[in-house]
Amino acid sequence: MKLASFVAIISLMMLYSNGFAGNRMNIIPEPNSILQNEGSFQLSRKTIIQSTSALRSLSDYLASQLKFFTGISLKVVTYSKRSRPNSMVLEIISASKATNPEAYTLDIAPNKVVLKARTQEGLFRGIQSLLQLVPLKGTNGVGDISIPACLIKDAPRFAWRGLNLDCVRHFMTINFIKRYINLLAYYKFNVFHWHLTDDQGWRIQIKKYPKLTEIGAWRNEGNGEKYGGYYTQKEIKDVVAYAKSRFITVVPEIEMPGHCQASLAAYPENACVPGPFQVGTQWGVYTNIYNPAKRSTYPFLENVLTEVMRLFPSHYIHIGGDEVPKTEWIQNTLCQELMKEKNLQNVDQLQSYFIRKIQAFLKSHGRQIIGWNEILEGDGPATGAVVQSWQGIDGAITAVKKGLYTIDSPSNYTYLSSSPSDLPLDSVYSFNPIPPGLTHSQKKLVLGTEASMWTERAPQDDVDSKMFPRLLAISEDAWTDPQKKNYSDFHKRVKEEYSRLAYLGVDYGLEQRAMAYNSEFDKLEKRFVVSIQPTQPGVKLRYTIGDTLTIENSHLYQKPVTIDTTNTFIGQAEINGRLVGNPVKLSFMIDEALDSKVTLKYPYSPEYTGGGPEGLVNGIRGTSNFRDGLWQGFKGDDLDATVKLKGKTKISQIGAGFLQSSSSYIFMPSSVTFYVSKDGKDFRRVGLVENYVSEKNPDNIRKDFVVHFRPRDVRYFRIVAKNIGVCPPWHPGAGAKAWVFVDELFAN
Ligand code: ACM
Repeated sequence: MKLASFVAIISLMMLYSNGFAGNRMNIIPEPNSILQNEGSFQLSRKTIIQSTSALRSLSDYLASQLKFFTGISLKVVTYSKRSRPNSMVLEIISASKATNPEAYTLDIAPNKVVLKARTQEGLFRGIQSLLQLVPLKGTNGVGDISIPACLIKDAPRFAWRGLNLDCVRHFMTINFIKRYINLLAYYKFNVFHWHLTDDQGWRIQIKKYPKLTEIGAWRNEGNGEKYGGYYTQKEIKDVVAYAKSRFITVVPEIEMPGHCQASLAAYPENACVPGPFQVGTQWGVYTNIYNPAKRSTYPFLENVLTEVMRLFPSHYIHIGGDEVPKTEWIQNTLCQELMKEKNLQNVDQLQSYFIRKIQAFLKSHGRQIIGWNEILEGDGPATGAVVQSWQGIDGAITAVKKGLYTIDSPSNYTYLSSSPSDLPLDSVYSFNPIPPGLTHSQKKLVLGTEASMWTERAPQDDVDSKMFPRLLAISEDAWTDPQKKNYSDFHKRVKEEYSRLAYLGVDYGLEQRAMAYNSEFDKLEKRFVVSIQPTQPGVKLRYTIGDTLTIENSHLYQKPVTIDTTNTFIGQAEINGRLVGNPVKLSFMIDEALDSKVTLKYPYSPEYTGGGPEGLVNGIRGTSNFRDGLWQGFKGDDLDATVKLKGKTKISQIGAGFLQSSSSYIFMPSSVTFYVSKDGKDFRRVGLVENYVSEKNPDNIRKDFVVHFRPRDVRYFRIVAKNIGVCPPWHPGAGAKAWVFVDELFAN
């Protein structure tokens, strides 16, 4: 048989066996075994859900979810010996303790659906697969709700499949958190890691220390308003119980010994330096940390953790431990005395002394710590700790080599707070939580992985669009065997999932950089033509010419846009009426130097060509990112450029644009001198502009240096920008060659 006809027959068979066209077994995360069978189960008002009374709440949950997805209310009946046709049966089976507690078997046959597992947890995971196979209300015609017949045997690859949600940088409401718990359950996650305390806020009520929330939960915003909020113990208990009913463990994170400025604002006596302190108002890491040598500190933290343990039954309590700037410990007399007394050689060992003390306290209450990979510093934690690796996978490797458990969640694969342009869906999907090169027993110490959503740039309303669809890739990284993973198949399922995400009310965002763009210079008309193309189906592109883009001030992109004055083109993606992703900004300059000829005395660096020889007169301005390909860099040398205009031209100003990014050794030129000439031989100096931007300014600064003069006819102009030579003595790169970065030379 020819391959083509063979394929055609197979497709025909699949078409009929599925009961309706176009159906795929669209389950995320992909189950570890699916056998598709002939026919389908027809769900109707007459279908019943059957189980023993012990499983009544699971059956009710299934009924409520089926109602949500299909609009049909099914009757739930307590199990009678003979299960009836046209029923969905939930059943606990006896199996060896070695069987994965989350394993399930889902057998969908034309007359019956049977879901079996060793535990209720397993049944709950299986219910999610069933729900994902049910067609959505309104998509299949009235009365036709067919579920494709199949046999699924499934179990997760990892026991730890989590989401870390930062509710400090932005406060998230209880309803929002419950909504996420439902979404996590639907994609078979089982851990909600709740980031509750940090420099910028304390969000958990602690009855013994009311000031933690009276003071620590609120920060001053730039506009004079207070921002914040906290969760009462009652609300927390409610969330924990809600999550439990969805077989999700809530793991609280209480940060120490750093990331604690909000705590110190409330109780400054635990600090290394005298207060008072303000709840952090800037993003980034604060240098004020707990003092491990103060008497007050341990009872305070232990009392806090005691209340935390009462609220959270989780075996693991996350104590942060990341990004601790230890300068205060070096300068603090009490810390130095403690280090002498305990024979600690350095502040890293002081950190492990502190971590181990907290770990021992939690252990005495039957709990164990999780800490970010920095808890490995110094002597590391004691046995039993879980190391969560975020700075790459090295922390995970070091941990398992020491016999410690790890959650492998490197920022470059799992931080969904990164934009989809920097961390696209396919990269997230390519992540394997087991680092290469581990032995069999080391692999067993890898508990799993987590996505992280840090919310500095994500108030509640923006979280969905950052999290989805990439959270789906994490769900599969954590659940599905690597041999079963296949990006192109996953991507097809994601594309079908968009309608379901919309049905679930998820404001999903981008898979990757939203658009490809291209700009061409039309020499004849002296104008730019910009075209943009979406990179994801279902995404519209909007654009505007100006400083900012909103839905209201922008146009739907339909055809290339012409720009014939100095102006900025902004393009941004839109999904279902919402702007998503970062805008693309292209700043154009229309002037007399455009498309002329440039001669350089010193060559530009091959690393930063700014578009090559004509890059300085291409009319496209650089952005604040020095790696954007639009900046030309000169290492240690001056920029000394002569521009030959197209013909004799009357001009009255000349200028050049520069960038300073001092942490990258890029500084403003110390001065820029301008010359003009009629013949390219005799040059007249027309001005000199001194730099006044401080070399110490840490921001990325763009600045045009410009001279004005009485209008005159010229054919050439020359610009000499003096490089400061080497990085100044105070700079970390003192003595190393400094850069001059220029994006454009212009004349008018
Ligand atoms: C972290 O991102 N500082 C854990």
